[in-house]
Amino acid sequence: MKGLPIEIIGAGSIQKRVKELAGEISRDFAGREITVVGVLKGAFVFMSDLVREIRLPLRCDFLRVESYDAQGKSGTVRLEFDLTQPIEGQDVLLIEDILDTGKTLQFILAHLSGKKPKSLTVCCFLDKGLVPEIRKNVRYVGFQVPPQYVVGYGLDWAGRYRELPYIGRLDPK
Ligand code: IMP
Ligand code: MG
Repeated sequence: MKGLPIEIIGAGSIQKRVKELAGEISRDFAGREITVVGVLKGAFVFMSDLVREIRLPLRCDFLRVESYDAQGKSGTVRLEFDLTQPIEGQDVLLIEDILDTGKTLQFILAHLSGKKPKSLTVCCFLDKGLVPEIRKNVRYVGFQVPPQYVVGYGLDWAGRYRELPYIGRLDPK
């Protein structure tokens, strides 16, 4: 059996950073109510920690996307299910787990813009640093990570490791 993923960002650092991001968001949106939209499944752990630190009235909703290509990754993005409530005229904060090729985020931004929110702001937990032109659309980033496959804190490999409280890379053994 494979060993556990090797830690690259510890649980303590994650909790500290989540509090910092929530503080920035609370200041930037002070006096407003926000709609927090999580991208399932990867963003659910980050979003649940983040919303509990944000000091603003807020609502939560979710959407789910899948991307496919021959290798099963980052090809055509397809909407699996959509928001349950309209967001027209609302200040929307989109929560993503990781920015890799950026195709997923581009797709979601185009989709949500069509629903005419008052504002659409992106908070992404991790950024692999591969797509600076798409990174420009992301106001809040948790951590920069090396461009390798990472798991934990909501991110999976074949459905596993989402429950880890830290970010790790897979043990090649
Ligand atoms: P993109 O469309 O290539 O930016 O990929 C974004 C999506 O692919 C993310 O929302 C993740 O669900 C998944 N993904 C990309 N890189 C990783 C990784 O290193 N670990 C786990 N999931 C990843
Ligand atoms: Mg994802």
